[in-house]
Amino acid sequence: MDRVYGTRKRELLGSAHGTVVEIGAGAGSNLEYYPRGASVIAVEPNRYMHRYLMAEAQRADIPVEVCDAVGERIDLDDACADVVVSTLVLCSVENPLKVVSEIRRILKPGGRFLFLEHVAAPAGTGLRRAQVCVKPIWQRRLRDAGLRTLSGNHPIHADRCAAHRGSSGQVE
Ligand SMILES: C[S@@+](CC[C@H](N)C(=O)[O-])C[C@H]1O[C@@H](n2cnc3c(N)ncnc32)[C@H](O)[C@@H]1O
Repeated sequence: MDRVYGTRKRELLGSAHGTVVEIGAGAGSNLEYYPRGASVIAVEPNRYMHRYLMAEAQRADIPVEVCDAVGERIDLDDACADVVVSTLVLCSVENPLKVVSEIRRILKPGGRFLFLEHVAAPAGTGLRRAQVCVKPIWQRRLRDAGLRTLSGNHPIHADRCAAHRGSSGQVE
């Protein structure tokens, strides 16, 4: 994945100073992009990922604390974060608006929300048709892996940008 997103992540996350709360940190693929001096609270509900996260924290030599929570209900104090990060996460969550509202709550005044998400290509384009074609393949693979299938709002199905636009007022 980071062959595709690495350059964008480096640009985006290189300015994430201070206390960084990362939502849906997964196996810690973003840790290598944070600057020296940043400390990260990694919110990740999949406990299977935690040991990979901590191994990656050691490799990247960055202080990381794991918070076993979902983005819709983050067990952290109000105004505790200088920066909140989410990359490729808002398409997976049950309730993106609730997540954005939690992000707003935990950000210090003047704090920044840095995000990178993938969305559906414009309707009628070849890329959109390709996204629709791969949908059953993804769903089968997720089912085979025992995971829930993609929600109807996943960018492969719909323009999840609408949720981002709808929630932007809560962030600014
Ligand atoms: C596609 S992975 C992205 C991982 C990483 N952020 C990256 O850019 O490679 C999505 C991650 O979001 C996590 N996730 C799913 N639902 C979540 C929720 N409701 N709140 C927080 N994280 C969630 C998953 O466990 C997974 O680690």
